[in-house]
Amino acid sequence: MTPHLVSSADSSVTPATQRLIRDRVVGQSLPAPFYVDDEFFTLDLDEVFSKRWIFVATEAEIREPGDYVTIDFGTRSVIIARDDDGRIKAHHNVCRHRGARLLTEPSGSTGTIVCTYHSWTYGMDGRLMFAEAQAPGFQKSCYTLRSVHVRSIAGLIFICLAADPPTDIDDVAEIVEPYLAPHRLAEAKVAKQTDLVEDGNWKLTMENNRECYHCAGHPELLNVFFPTWGYSTDDAIPARLEPVFARYRKATAEAREVWDSYGLPHPRIEQLDTRTTGFHIERDAMDLAGESFTLDGTAACTRLLTDMDEKRLGRLSMHLQPNMWLHVTSDHAVLFSAIPLAADKTVVRTTWLVHADAVEGIDYDLDRLTSVWEITNQQDADLVALAQQGIRSPAYEPGPYGPSEFQVEAFVNWYITTLRTNLGIPSIAAPTGQTA
Ligand code: FES
Ligand SMILES: [Fe+2]
Repeated sequence: MTPHLVSSADSSVTPATQRLIRDRVVGQSLPAPFYVDDEFFTLDLDEVFSKRWIFVATEAEIREPGDYVTIDFGTRSVIIARDDDGRIKAHHNVCRHRGARLLTEPSGSTGTIVCTYHSWTYGMDGRLMFAEAQAPGFQKSCYTLRSVHVRSIAGLIFICLAADPPTDIDDVAEIVEPYLAPHRLAEAKVAKQTDLVEDGNWKLTMENNRECYHCAGHPELLNVFFPTWGYSTDDAIPARLEPVFARYRKATAEAREVWDSYGLPHPRIEQLDTRTTGFHIERDAMDLAGESFTLDGTAACTRLLTDMDEKRLGRLSMHLQPNMWLHVTSDHAVLFSAIPLAADKTVVRTTWLVHADAVEGIDYDLDRLTSVWEITNQQDADLVALAQQGIRSPAYEPGPYGPSEFQVEAFVNWYITTLRTNLGIPSIAAPTGQTA
């Protein structure tokens, strides 16, 4: 029996859109409207980016009281700041007087937040401190900036705009913190941050990230990143990758000994579409020297992130739905977030972290530290743009995901389940365990 569509709380969701969400075919890429239509773009901002935990920054970016970053997506803008007591706060970037945008820079440092319009002045904790010439009885305490839920997990800052954010972030934090904590990201510093605008829908950016089927397009990265990632059985591995797979097995056996000797957790955990805050975490070996994302695999920074005197830790990698992935090696971390700009435009923000005491030019060369991922990012951006171009054509129809694209399927399944859950659209497929 075909499930009936139910009327959504948001009446702007058309029956045609509801049908597309209801009828998504498992194991295939999405129909074109998901990637090109403004209605889906608005829906993604409202139902995904405003109701799930999203990765926005690192503690390294707001180290001192008064430091802030702003994050904009769609019509939303959020201030993430360190207050005078050293706490991390997040507020809507909207003045409580007549609504003006408060902070317009992407980042900075300030003692107070002063509205440009009529100079209402807020503390970094959001409290209104000054509002000139108000009527008797005006209560400043009634006009604190509207707060946004925020939390740090091992130095990674997440926000959720929902009134009642998904509570399973606590479970996720408990699982991933033991993996991340030894790398001391909360104490690191930013070596570089870049924003790359991709000419594609944010879901294409994420889908591209979730597979290495396309990794032949990354010759620089493949010096150290095993392209066998995503292949789970010997049978599924293409013949061209068999020698690499043999090398990967050897490197993995050696890496496991190193991880175990330092008590570093390394079992792969795959919960990308089986919970509301979907994630994946794993340690994996790297090729050549096995130390870092450089052309020869040797460390790019002599000052290591960890207390361990061990460079050959491979990579710790984490994916979190909907918009984040990261890799941590012994000497640095590289973190990525996707921020939707328009139906066909997405910012990929890349942040490189090194030990707080590492000195550029002495402990690391910035080009060597960043070049592999800068090149790789551009290659990915070109691939995403090609996908967007093809999907715009009336000739496009959804195609099948192969076994090595299982994380792409997990991403799309998580996305579709999120929309169905939030909009009350019945699922034909088996439920995945997500809750609103
Ligand atoms: S709108 Fe901000 S002070 Fe008037
Ligand atoms: Fe890629």
